[in-house]
Amino acid sequence: MSAPRAFRSPREILWGRGSFAHLQNIPGRRVLIVTDRVMTALGIAERAKEYFRKGGLEAQVFDEVEPEPSIDTVLRIRDRYREFAPDVIAGIGGGSPIDASKAFRIFSEHPHLAFEEIRYLTGLPKVAVPPLRKTIHVAAASTSGTGSDATHVAVLTDPRIPAKCPIRSPGIVPTVTIVDPDLADTMPPTVLADSGMDALTHAIESYVGIAANPFSRGMSLQAVVLVMNHLPAAFSGQDRGAREQMHYAATIAGLGFANSSNGLCHAVADKVGAAFKLSHGRANAIALPYVIAFNGTVAGAAFMEIARALGYRAENPREAVQELVGRISRIAGQLGIPGSYREVGIPEEAYRAKVKEFAARALVFPVTSMNPRQPTVEELESLFTACFTGDYGLV
Ligand SMILES: [Fe+2]
Repeated sequence: MSAPRAFRSPREILWGRGSFAHLQNIPGRRVLIVTDRVMTALGIAERAKEYFRKGGLEAQVFDEVEPEPSIDTVLRIRDRYREFAPDVIAGIGGGSPIDASKAFRIFSEHPHLAFEEIRYLTGLPKVAVPPLRKTIHVAAASTSGTGSDATHVAVLTDPRIPAKCPIRSPGIVPTVTIVDPDLADTMPPTVLADSGMDALTHAIESYVGIAANPFSRGMSLQAVVLVMNHLPAAFSGQDRGAREQMHYAATIAGLGFANSSNGLCHAVADKVGAAFKLSHGRANAIALPYVIAFNGTVAGAAFMEIARALGYRAENPREAVQELVGRISRIAGQLGIPGSYREVGIPEEAYRAKVKEFAARALVFPVTSMNPRQPTVEELESLFTACFTGDYGLV
């Protein structure tokens, strides 16, 4: 008998404007709020503390999580709060604080576990993350993009290795996720644009990928529709309703890719983003139309379904892919996102010198194997080149 497939999600997803106040109903004795300086400056960390105190919990705040958090930060939290021994861990902020809080939960419950044993680097980790039974985890996202508040993944960096090292375990899906659009109202426009396109990438990649299934597809398709319909209005700044829908779309897309997978766009974006210091969302946003064009030849039926859900009048998969690529490129343009890596300001010589290495590394990047079209290394070189020159003829 083969193992059953599982749909994993937080035990509870509480959503709606004002839902952040539900923190006061979280049961426990001691809570550590893991967040960053931005959340402190905006008063959100203090509000969280107050809600928890109202609920009778002793609350402390760690607000030193940096963007793309390092394992060293997580171990620092473990050491600093060893005596405090929280039974509730709250990750509040963008993907970075939420990921750091997920990882802290593991090392708080299992202080002798080594990061090297549980991270994904070149292959499967040496040991699985042991069960987490002493703590509960609450996540509340302040950006509308990463979906980390709904997933089993925590991405950390290791300063000793120039690569992101994810931890993946069903045990680190947050126990309770609070999706309160009020928290995201403070996002600067570039963060809204980049993170919104990241959410769109999650939704599309998880819908067309080989791990997609009837349960994940419902989430992914809904997220595509919400992002395509609301991202431009959310960016314009006038439409609070659109920003609210974008905040839900990010978590829904998170559920989609957590129960399917991201694909080749994330592999491309990871390589270019790391080498040329582009944000994760922007690196994905630029590559997305080219990767859709690349996948269009084999995932036509899935793209037809997306086009239908969006109400496009496409007669066949080719038209569906063209329409989608055109619309996404237009939306990205409206958000001020350049159409190629050249336009974003990456120097040509430096980029071209890296293409072979990018292609070789993207070929073995884990999400590439979940992509609907399995690329050769030569095809990847053409794809990386197209993302730079803007020439779809190369794809
Ligand atoms: Fe992403």
